Amino acid sequence: IDPNLDLVEEINRLKKEKNAVILAHYYQESEIQDLADYIGDSLGLSQQAAKTDADVIVFAGVHFMAETAKILSPSKKVLLPDLKAGCSLSDSCPPHLFAKFKEKYPDHLVITYVNCTAELKALSDIVCTSSNAVQIVESLPADQKIIFGPDRNLGDYVKKKTGRDLVLWNGACMVHEIFSQERIDALRAEHPDAKFIAHPECEEHILAQADYIGSTSGMLKFTIEDPADTFIVATESGILHQMQKASPAKTFIPAPPNNMCACNDCPHMKLNTLEKLYNCLYYESPEIILSEDIIQRAQKPIERMLEISA
Ligand code: 13P
Ligand code: SF4
Repeated sequence: IDPNLDLVEEINRLKKEKNAVILAHYYQESEIQDLADYIGDSLGLSQQAAKTDADVIVFAGVHFMAETAKILSPSKKVLLPDLKAGCSLSDSCPPHLFAKFKEKYPDHLVITYVNCTAELKALSDIVCTSSNAVQIVESLPADQKIIFGPDRNLGDYVKKKTGRDLVLWNGACMVHEIFSQERIDALRAEHPDAKFIAHPECEEHILAQADYIGSTSGMLKFTIEDPADTFIVATESGILHQMQKASPAKTFIPAPPNNMCACNDCPHMKLNTLEKLYNCLYYESPEIILSEDIIQRAQKPIERMLEISA
């Protein structure tokens, strides 16, 4: 890339020329969030992908999110700036092992958290995100037996909220499992009036101390509406950009991870850069390609989720 190129200007020009839309997750670098047409959580992004009239969707997020966009809009070209932008949670649930696990519970309905491969979604009855998992479980009859995967922390949280006995797959996200209880306690002692907010992918003992638990968009909304002026935030730190933008006078502190980790960045989300975004729009590559069969089988459980959360 020519170092004199104004990447933001070029991306905006290419976007118009190709009738493309940029969808970005809250965990993206601030500069990517700032040029996106839509920024959101996993549910909001899939709703946008389903309804856009653009010809090209550039997904500034991770692989499973771009796959979900492709499944919902199969006739559109879906681009991901870096195909290696995966997800540790998705990786923790290989579809062939999950298929065996599912065989042990033939009378159970399968709910999968959207952070999984298209192949896993194709093995599911309903998909959910962190913002509608409780609602989706509650929409089912009380005696319905349910398998929930791949995130056991979100699964435990949903069990607690709904009082249902879910069979859980033992998967987790590398970013949400690193928070240090000891360091959070010390930080809260330093800021006694701060609210502690956490994503439900965090471990149970971290969630137990939270003043608010919710998806990235739920957490953002909470920081806007709550009168506190300091928030300690237990999730990937990309979301702090939008929190700070929405409430410039408030203070946001990333919850401290254990001493094995320097920060709360998701290494997968952070693989996307402005340069890669420009290149993928220019070359229309890398593109998400899925088989017709996977698209058809994965579409039903995602659409069922969108209907329930409409
Ligand atoms: P939400 O965007 O649904 O809050 O999920 C967070 C996440 O981990 C996405 O990878
Ligand atoms: Fe996956 Fe965790 Fe990164 Fe989200 S934050 S994309 S769940 S590894």
